[in-house]
This record gives sequence, structure tokens and C-alpha cells, in this order.
Amino acid sequence: MASHELNALPGMRPAEGKWARVFSSHPFDLILDRTEGIYLYDTNGRRYIDVSGGALAMSIGAGDRRVLDAMARQAERFGYVTPAMANAPRADVCERIARLAPGDLNTTYLVSGGSEAVESAIKLARQYHLATGNPRKHHVIGTWDSYHGMTLGALSVAGGPGYRIPFDPQLNGSPHIRHCRRPSERPLGVSEEDWGRTCALELEEMIHYLGADNVAAFIATPVGAGKDYGLVPPTSYWTTIRAICDRYQVLLIADEVVTGFGRTGRWFGMEHFGVVPDLMVSGKGISSLYFPVGAVTVSDRVNEPFRQGAYFIHGHTHMGNPIGCAATLAVLDVIEQDGLVANAAAVGEYLHGLLRERILPLGPIADVRGKGLLAILELVKHKDTMEFPDPAADPETLFQAVAYKHGLSFYMSLYGPRRPSAMKRGVPVFITPSLCLTRAQADEIVDRLEKVVVEWGETVG
Ligand SMILES: Cc1ncc(COP(=O)(O)O)c(C=O)c1O
Repeated sequence: MASHELNALPGMRPAEGKWARVFSSHPFDLILDRTEGIYLYDTNGRRYIDVSGGALAMSIGAGDRRVLDAMARQAERFGYVTPAMANAPRADVCERIARLAPGDLNTTYLVSGGSEAVESAIKLARQYHLATGNPRKHHVIGTWDSYHGMTLGALSVAGGPGYRIPFDPQLNGSPHIRHCRRPSERPLGVSEEDWGRTCALELEEMIHYLGADNVAAFIATPVGAGKDYGLVPPTSYWTTIRAICDRYQVLLIADEVVTGFGRTGRWFGMEHFGVVPDLMVSGKGISSLYFPVGAVTVSDRVNEPFRQGAYFIHGHTHMGNPIGCAATLAVLDVIEQDGLVANAAAVGEYLHGLLRERILPLGPIADVRGKGLLAILELVKHKDTMEFPDPAADPETLFQAVAYKHGLSFYMSLYGPRRPSAMKRGVPVFITPSLCLTRAQADEIVDRLEKVVVEWGETVG
């Protein structure tokens, strides 16, 4: 579909006039007027369901008075405090996270978003080793196809070539392994748990070749990323990774930016595997997008050198911003008071059932996977061939355009068509609405989604 045809779809607008001078990868987006609960309204008064919850990030609904009032009250008292000065909102957030986080993840460093939190975790891991007599430990091993944010350190450990390779000269050359591979790649006769262990051994192999004395940390998301977005590994994958990290004094960094704060039906994704990381990175749902907030939470062991006086070489003007802390506290209150973690588990299960029953049989849907309210569709031209449509046809924008027409708003990523078709993977479609989703709203999403997938398939087919 040519771009002038996309412009003709309702809710779309060409990037002209002042819009042409705005950096945006979605030039045809509707013009947002206001948001409420799981709904977006454009300036023409049309309503859309925010299926992806912003950028996989809304843990509570939009426009919640409890959060807006808490932010306003804090702004009236003080809207900023230098990082050096003590203040109650920051202490309260850190204490609350310590209560919610598993194991001895008791100390939190607050920043302004997921990428900054990843940077902070990488630097903390390095400084921990420097402070504990392991000065050569510096490599942070990442996973191919992962995404950890757009700052240079985060891009170094990420694995998607499209956004990493252009910056290669500036990156630190972090080594990568594969994340847990798909069950479909599991050889006949190998159990799921054995497969998890086999996949995890790639980490040990990489540590062997780099030399354990040189490896500071391993960073990964609890569930698959990139082309295998939302793939839930067997428990043995993560328990084996944990054991390998312990064996070689490699710190385990769990990137919970997407999975944290209830998304998968537990407070944190790693809880599904009973594994406690050494450092946990959060963002997105922690403040449900009411304010830019990120966090790195560390175990007592990792914090010990800093507690004893080692200086963490870091600092951002907006770290622990008091309005952000007030927003975070209020969001966490809403999640707890409204039982949204349990709701994500229950409505998530219901939604996965609907998707398997009604959406998976459709030709362009190669897979449905995930956990809780992290549901991922894998979109291809047709599942029989596993080909993705010609990237020149801009199939992702087309999917969004068709979805807008049917009253659904999706956040799409850069993963899909910018990859050799030899890899035979589709583009992930994120069904990650606010954790307050009801069963009736899940029904409505699936009713509309069915039409979107069919129409998209007919157009690209
Ligand atoms: C797993 C993961 N980590 C980190 C980030 C970076 O977070 P932010 O965009 O808030 O910097 C993202 C963003 O999508 C993410 O998905």
C-alpha cells in the first residue's frame, strides 16, 4: 500500500506542515487528544483501545485521579530536589520496591527510564567487581536479538543488528549468546527441561572462551526478545543460568523493564522461574508512564561495597525526581489496591485462550505466546511459508493503519521485516494492555483484531 493510500485511512494524517519537522517513525499517526483507562481518543473524537499499553508500559489505566492528585500534591510541596538531599518520596519508593522484589533485592537506585537503568546496572556490576578485588571482570554478556534501550551501553549489550551495527565503532564490543531457543528447535526425544539446560550452557561456553576472570555480568530479559519475543523458557533454563553465574562469579542482571510490576501475572517475570537475579532493571510499568522513571535494584551482596563506602560513579539531574517518586508510589498503590497483578494473571489466561482459539488459526499468525498480559502474536505473510511480506510495502505501518481503522492502537517495533527472510520469523505484535483489562475488553480486542489480521493478510497477500 502506497503512503498516499495510508493517508486516506481514518485517523491518519500526512506529515505536513509542523508535523514534518517532528522526529517520528510513524508519520501517519492519528493526533492524540486525550487518554482514559485503556482508551485513546483522537482529535476527531474517535476512540481506540490502547492494545500495547503505550510502549508495553501501562500497568494501570490512563488518567487515574489517584495518581494525578498524588503528583499534583507533590509538585505543590517541591518538584525537585538535588540527588544529594534526603527526601521522603525517594526513600518510600525504594522501601516499597524492597518489599515487592524477591529475595534480598533490597536497595534501589532510581533514574529516568529503562535505558538509564540498564546503564546503571552495567556500571554497578563493573564497580562491584572493582571494589571486591576483581579488576579484570569487565565483559557484560548479552543475548542476540535482545533490546535493552537506546543509550550506547544499552545498545552494546543488545543484540538486534538494525539498531546496533550503525553505532558499532562507539559500542564496547560486548559478547552475545543466544537466548533460550524455541521449543520447535528442540530435537526429538529431548525433554523441555533438558532443552532449557542445553540452551543455558551457551553461557558457560562463552565464559570459558572469554575467561571467567574477565566476565562481569550476564544481562537478559526473563522471556525471549526480538524475533522470539515473549517466548517463555523452561524453568531449567533460568536455574541453570543462575548456577553458571554463581560458579564463575558472574553477576546476573535481569532486565524487567517490560516484565516487571505485574505484566506477566507475577510482580516480576523472574518469579515464574524461582530465580533471584543480582541486579534487576525496571522502567515502563513502574510508573505506568505517568512520569519517566527507571530503577536498578540490587541484592545485599552487590550493595555491600557501596554500603561500606565505595562511591558509585554515577548521577543524573533527574534521578529520584520527587514527582516521579510520587507517581510511582501512587501507581504501586493502585496496582496493590485494585489487585492488578492477580487480574493480569486471570484475564491474561482468558485472553491467551481467546487468542489461541480465534486468532492463531488465521493464516498470517504463526504463533501466539507469552504469559499474563504479555501476549505476543507473530505476524507473517502466511504461516505455511513463514515468509514476511516485502519490507518495501511497509507491512508494519500497514498493520497499524488497518488497526486504527478498526479502533485498535498498536505499538510496533523494528524487529520484523528488517531481517533476512532466511530466519523465517515474523514480526511480533504486542498485546500488552493495562493490567486493569476486563474480560469484556479482552473480548472486544479479539473481535476487532480478527478483522485487522484478515484485512492485513488480504492486503499483503
Ligand atoms: C527490555 C527493555 N529494556 C530496556 C528498555 C529501555 O527502556 P526506555 O525506553 O525507557 O529507555 C526497553 C524499552 O523498550 C525494553 O523493552
